[in-house]
Amino acid sequence: MTASELVDPAAVVRSYDDDSWADDAPTRGVEAVVESGHVLAFPRLAFALSDDEKRFLDPRWADAKAKNISVRWPAGELRGAVGNAEDLRALRAMVVRFAENSEALALRLFPHYRGHLRRGNTSFRPTDVAARVRSWRQDDTRLHVDAFPSNPMQGTRLLRVFSNVNPYGAPRRWRVGEPFEAHAQRYLGSIGRPLPGSAWLMATVGVTKRRRTDYDHAMLQLHDRAKADMQFQSTSPQARVDFAPGTTWVCYSDQVLHAAMGGQHMMEQTFLLEVEHLLEPATSPLRTLERLLQRPLR
Ligand SMILES: [Fe+2]
Repeated sequence: MTASELVDPAAVVRSYDDDSWADDAPTRGVEAVVESGHVLAFPRLAFALSDDEKRFLDPRWADAKAKNISVRWPAGELRGAVGNAEDLRALRAMVVRFAENSEALALRLFPHYRGHLRRGNTSFRPTDVAARVRSWRQDDTRLHVDAFPSNPMQGTRLLRVFSNVNPYGAPRRWRVGEPFEAHAQRYLGSIGRPLPGSAWLMATVGVTKRRRTDYDHAMLQLHDRAKADMQFQSTSPQARVDFAPGTTWVCYSDQVLHAAMGGQHMMEQTFLLEVEHLLEPATSPLRTLERLLQRPLR
């Protein structure tokens, strides 16, 4: 086996000293950093749980059938949790507080997005990454960019805020990989176009929530090719990054090659942003793929 090329984690991860979610912390206006494919890490920015909330760290609150506990917006309903009404109210309040903190953080870091950032799902993952058994396509311990078969993004960006709330000192262990454009060039030559009519059919019969565009087709192919390619997984340029408990980190998960190798107890907030509202739309996966393929992908 060939040893993988090492990426300097510092080339991918930028760390900041902020210790508050609110406007009194110093970092702001860093759109260009996150849009160029960096992970922004805040080792001193903890999502604190009250003594009463610490009981929710037990995986028994998660519905065995659900992957995680989540609050869905805009309605704000709690999903994937089991308990009595009073417990579920308190659990929901904890997850909603993470959504609000994340939004305040994102708007401070990226003021250019104000008025355009849409709140996606907020989730709480009390279960161990390693305990989840999946098919290779769902195996997030393999390097990938985020793309979903049933949920076409049509170019819309996926900005994510993560926070490790593990109470036992266990880090969230990630690998990060090569820049998006290099990754796209690795596989784009072998990616064909979707079958004519397939996008219409999948949307019509409900396989997809909306039309799977040529962009979605290309992103899904990148996701699947990378996960199926064990040579790529073991030998491509990559770095291990540990996020200790009390650390929050932010990245575009549709752009940063990432893999979750281990850890338990994580909060996660997804934000959606249209490409036009980026500071530099040319850095987006949509515009990068269009430039490489020399055709529009909408
Ligand atoms: Fe992912």
